Amino acid sequence: MAPGVKLPLTALKRSFYILNTPTAYILLTLRLSVTSGEAKLASPEQLLKSMTLEEKVSLVVGWGPARRVPGAAGETRPVKVPSMVTSDGPSGLRIEPTKERKWYATAFPVPTMLASTWNLELVERVGRAIGEEAREYGVDIFLAPGINIHRHPLCGRNFEYFSEDPLLSGVVAAAYVKGVQSAGVGATPKHFAANEQETNRVIIDTVVSERALREIYLKPFEIVVKEAKPWAIMSAYNKLNGKYCSQNEWLLTKVLREEWGFNGIVMTDWGAGDNPVEQIKAGNDLIMPGSDEIVTKLLEAVKKGALSESELDRSALRILRVAQLSLSYRGYRYSNQPNLEAHAQLAYEAAAEGVVLLKNEGALPLKEGSRVAVFGTGQIETLKGGMGSGHTHPKRVVTILESLRERLKVEEELSSAYEKYVLEKRGREFLEKIYYEEAYPEPLPQDIVSEEQVAKFAERNDAAIIVITRISGEGWDRRLEKGDFYLSNSERKLIEMVSRQFRAKGKPVVVVLNICGPIEVVSWRDLVDAILLVWLPGQEAGRVVADALVGRINPSGKLPTTFPRDWPDVPAAKSPECYPGVPPENPRVVRYCEGVYVGYRYYDTFGVEPAYEFGFGLSYTKFEYRNLTVEKAGDKVKVSFEVVNVGSYPGKEVAQVYVKAPRGKLDKPFQELKAFKKTRLLKPGESEKIELEINIRDLASFDESEKVWLVEKGTYEVKVGASSRNIRLTGTFTVENDIKFKP
Ligand code: GLC
Repeated sequence: MAPGVKLPLTALKRSFYILNTPTAYILLTLRLSVTSGEAKLASPEQLLKSMTLEEKVSLVVGWGPARRVPGAAGETRPVKVPSMVTSDGPSGLRIEPTKERKWYATAFPVPTMLASTWNLELVERVGRAIGEEAREYGVDIFLAPGINIHRHPLCGRNFEYFSEDPLLSGVVAAAYVKGVQSAGVGATPKHFAANEQETNRVIIDTVVSERALREIYLKPFEIVVKEAKPWAIMSAYNKLNGKYCSQNEWLLTKVLREEWGFNGIVMTDWGAGDNPVEQIKAGNDLIMPGSDEIVTKLLEAVKKGALSESELDRSALRILRVAQLSLSYRGYRYSNQPNLEAHAQLAYEAAAEGVVLLKNEGALPLKEGSRVAVFGTGQIETLKGGMGSGHTHPKRVVTILESLRERLKVEEELSSAYEKYVLEKRGREFLEKIYYEEAYPEPLPQDIVSEEQVAKFAERNDAAIIVITRISGEGWDRRLEKGDFYLSNSERKLIEMVSRQFRAKGKPVVVVLNICGPIEVVSWRDLVDAILLVWLPGQEAGRVVADALVGRINPSGKLPTTFPRDWPDVPAAKSPECYPGVPPENPRVVRYCEGVYVGYRYYDTFGVEPAYEFGFGLSYTKFEYRNLTVEKAGDKVKVSFEVVNVGSYPGKEVAQVYVKAPRGKLDKPFQELKAFKKTRLLKPGESEKIELEINIRDLASFDESEKVWLVEKGTYEVKVGASSRNIRLTGTFTVENDIKFKP
């Protein structure tokens, strides 16, 4: 058992309150009264004083893959305090299987789908469940959430990130972090910052204006640091305006610590940067995964005076402070048996609330037991999540076909043909890898049936279901080509054929999108009657899809990211240097030319029609918005209104509040999301009164000329709606004079 020390409440409280760990955790660890032969309580400062130079250097450098939990991503060195085990990842705990054993953990819906729920209480429960699984497998610091911005639809890791909007990203991340840390495990928002593409990620220089940086790319980190006080932050691989993030003192010390008050540890991404001395000097406290060579380099640097001992002490002390919070320090006896059963149900619930109904013209919900012809290999090779460090190893993945067979009468001639085809093409072993390990399923031709066969299926079934899948992962961006952003030829042919034959018989065609991020939809959506977006829904995938199709789930998700009509509409696509991966082939620089005009901020300001807008999502019921009041009270604006279920189905609505600022010194996006609330489940006829507050400060834009946050005087428009383009109520308030805030 790891040595630990008995911590009197005062010291415990002091360290927790600094890092804002909830009381529940204090009580949890107080039960772990472990005494070491070594010393009674020693404050971090006392421990530091007792350390040699070698010990301090060892503390700030990890020692490669984790040893205590072999499949975990990394571990700090045990120096005066037990080592801390760190493990990924945003969709659920990822500990790589070894020859000796596996660490099954729940595959939750990917973060983009968690954001699609717009349900902060639910996200916090998911965070807590993941934290509990990390705790019970001996992990001290959890390497998530990822909170980079969906700057463009093709970033390979967008599934690990929440949204194109900084407010939604930030508050969802804060809920997630609070959840993880309530289980006694540290969280690590990442990748700090401006890491919005995978192409050349470890060397690329992101060039972005300070205004766009602060308003869009840093904002989620600012929110999560101030609202949830994460134990750690992971700096990003890329350079930021010429300096590696992990070596960027302006980013890691001036902004993160001096302006935002962060007092946890900053760790590198794995192998990031090119100068460990600069990393420590910049305020990057922990170098991961670390190596003995780096320890030697740092020792030499201190001895030569290139790195002062006080700079080294600063990082060592921060690590000691966090270490004294860790469960390893408290000698927590982890069980190796997390409650996967309970968490499976939570994974289902979270995915259920993240399903987004994009289109429904009289097709859904299907009647349970009705006859369906199911097309597409995705019914069998259903995708639970993405690839790379953000993937997961659940015990069980429920495929779409399995669950459709439970809820509906499936056309077995067709589905068995697809099953046979997939097995022939993939082989059982590879198919298992798609579910349980890391395997990239190259797209297969989807049109494996003839038009005559489709006509026959249309004759004897009540509806058609077509499953479209898309996967992506760490280390590469998606491709602007058929089979990725666009439909493949075989997918298009299949949709056209099924549409022709089923519509000829007055039968509906439903498309299920089991995808990692937006695809082009405008060229084919008129051929189908319903489109259900289920993103990458985690291990309970099939159950969620089937239950949403038959109405056991009434979709309540809303888009956290725009579906553009086509690639050239995407602001990041405006010039080659603005998005690597599309020529030039080997970019060294990516310029965020669009500034703050990202996602709906661009489309709404420049009048570019999206396929499906930010905040969009349909329901099987209907909601009305009534009785808006807007009241400015001091430094807050109070917005209240009612949401009424005027349809025939119980349902939840995500009510969104956008603000349109007056014209002034700074150009501003057409509107920006400033508040939102998901209602409870409203029965037909029921209503809920929504009362929201907006801090005046949160209306500010960053004025680079004066390096201040500026709220300009004038009349502001409050726009309350079901999406960014479906505004139901409007009101106004006035700001009498310009207000400036220091960063
Ligand atoms: C990877 C990822 C990071 C992950 C780390 C440890 O390179 O960029 O998100 O947490 O390594 O696996």
